[in-house]
Amino acid sequence: MKRITSLFFIIFSTILLAQPEANYDETRIPKFSVPDPLTSFSGRAITDTDQWEKNRKLEIYQFFEKQIYGKVPAMLDEYSFKVIEQDNNAFEGKAQRKQIAVGLKKNGRTLNFNILLYLPNGHENAPVFLGYNFHGNHTVTNDPKVIITEAWNANNDDLKISNNKATEASRGVRTNRWPITKMLEKGYGLATVYYGEIDPDKNDFSDGLHSLYYTEEQTRPRTNEWGSIAAWAFGLSRAMDYLENDTNISNVIVFGHSRLGKAALWAGVTDPRFSGVISNNSGCGGAALSKRKYGETIEHITTSFPHWFSQSFKKYSNREETLPVDQHQLLALIAPRPLYVASAIEDEWADPKGEFLSSQYASKVYELYGKKGLSLTDVHEVDKPIQRTLAYHMRAGKHDVTEYDWDQYMIWADTFAK
Ligand code: GCU
Repeated sequence: MKRITSLFFIIFSTILLAQPEANYDETRIPKFSVPDPLTSFSGRAITDTDQWEKNRKLEIYQFFEKQIYGKVPAMLDEYSFKVIEQDNNAFEGKAQRKQIAVGLKKNGRTLNFNILLYLPNGHENAPVFLGYNFHGNHTVTNDPKVIITEAWNANNDDLKISNNKATEASRGVRTNRWPITKMLEKGYGLATVYYGEIDPDKNDFSDGLHSLYYTEEQTRPRTNEWGSIAAWAFGLSRAMDYLENDTNISNVIVFGHSRLGKAALWAGVTDPRFSGVISNNSGCGGAALSKRKYGETIEHITTSFPHWFSQSFKKYSNREETLPVDQHQLLALIAPRPLYVASAIEDEWADPKGEFLSSQYASKVYELYGKKGLSLTDVHEVDKPIQRTLAYHMRAGKHDVTEYDWDQYMIWADTFAK
């Protein structure tokens, strides 16, 4: 009897969790029209930045806020910052290292996270890249002084994380994604936070930032309220609250890879204090157009990661044609601030072409401000970065963050951040 029950369970859960196959064939992309960033929902043409900012930008923003990422329910009651560790001679004298404990308080409940900050010595007022890491601040460097996170961590054999807890074994396992010495030598600082300290990445709303806000009977956010991406974006802004008051920092460029690229984009939209935004392989729900339904779709993403978005986003699963917006308009909301969208040619799941087209279609709004983005005649080629205010590259290789990516980001940031 027990065996029959478990057989039923396996069959039932396979049916429930079955994902439709992803389409990787350009000829099978549905016909769709790209919603024009410069025509309002009521059909009015937007011809200057004033109309854009007062009307169109707002209506697009509100749509993304309610229907896609979800609204932040309220501000915090209190927050605090404390430098808990500092060394002015880190990285063989190249950097000042600070570790800052941030405390967030709401309804008498608290959440703490740590910022790891390296600032280049010899550069008084340096630009800083702020980006989340996937497994803990101690994974981005071999620096033995970096505090190991206590927060829930996704198990990963390759990265030596088991029992949902990071230990000394995973120190430095992700140095390949963070060329810190190079950043410091080029005059950039780095601030990083473990995203799991803001909201553990699991379909469970009992913990993390969301839970601080609940009324007594509440167990999850309300329908149009924030999913994890919006919570992570909110966390980036709280890190910014500290960074903007550090007199050694000139400006902050927000960066993110993959799901954290989606969070970086939403942080860039919601917080104008970020002077630049970098989306590395952010794909579906990030820089890629949803209506192409190439690689990951809304159906895939809201099935596998239902906690990432506002509950309303599911309505558009397999009904992309009814979406009055698409992701190029998310990019357009960042204009006129510098924005870099990067893809990798083998990262088909994230639809590199959809990210390129999205960047092209967003560029209209940059042009309205007299800034340059991608033109419709630009070609989509490997390892040929197009560096304008709205910049784009498609790297050779897989879904990842590489030194090549960072080299491009620094060349581009040199043009506005210094
Ligand atoms: C999954 C998910 C993507 C996401 C990626 C990542 O592949 O489907 O949407 O970008 O994980 O964060 O690595």
